[in-house]
Amino acid sequence: MPYDADAPPNLGRLRAFVGDLAALLAEPHDEPRALEAGAALLARLIAKDDWLPEACAQPHPTRYRQYLLHCDSRERFSIVSFVWGPGQATPIHDHTVWGLVGVLRGAELSQRYLRVGPRLIPDGPVRRLERGEVEAVSPALGDLHQVSNALPDKPSVSIHVYGGNIGAVRRTAYDAAGRPSPFISGYSNATTPNLWDVSRQEAP
Ligand code: FE2
Repeated sequence: MPYDADAPPNLGRLRAFVGDLAALLAEPHDEPRALEAGAALLARLIAKDDWLPEACAQPHPTRYRQYLLHCDSRERFSIVSFVWGPGQATPIHDHTVWGLVGVLRGAELSQRYLRVGPRLIPDGPVRRLERGEVEAVSPALGDLHQVSNALPDKPSVSIHVYGGNIGAVRRTAYDAAGRPSPFISGYSNATTPNLWDVSRQEAP
């Protein structure tokens, strides 16, 4: 179904995803299993583009945006919408926790990197993630990458899930020469979507 900006967001879909993810992480699990099962849940969430509030899909003229959609009360996971304007990209960066990236609108380019001594070198070709596709990152799988909007003329939106409160995690970004600089990303929004007014919102 094409995206309809005039329809009210179906927040029940995001609420169901939050519940499913919390249930998954409440069970004994190892990271590969959590990533595999979490990726299937995320793929289902992004298969329909009728639930993301407009306020969390707004691009910025010069910088990519990261809107917190939900953070688990124990900070076991957070869900973020990344909005990329044309030409916008992250620096090379790490995460230090597991992460899942799923494209909701448009397309993204992802380049992984490996550390070799003091240098960072590309790890494989640039991967183009199309709408509906999901990619995983983690310290165990490879945690360094650079992400950019694949579309030259339109915003792209991806939904990310991380194994922590990602906006508060101490991480590292790298310049083109591989020089590190610490950062804590924070979030672009001050308020999160109200998922819990079940009197107003239809279940998916
Ligand atoms: Fe990333």
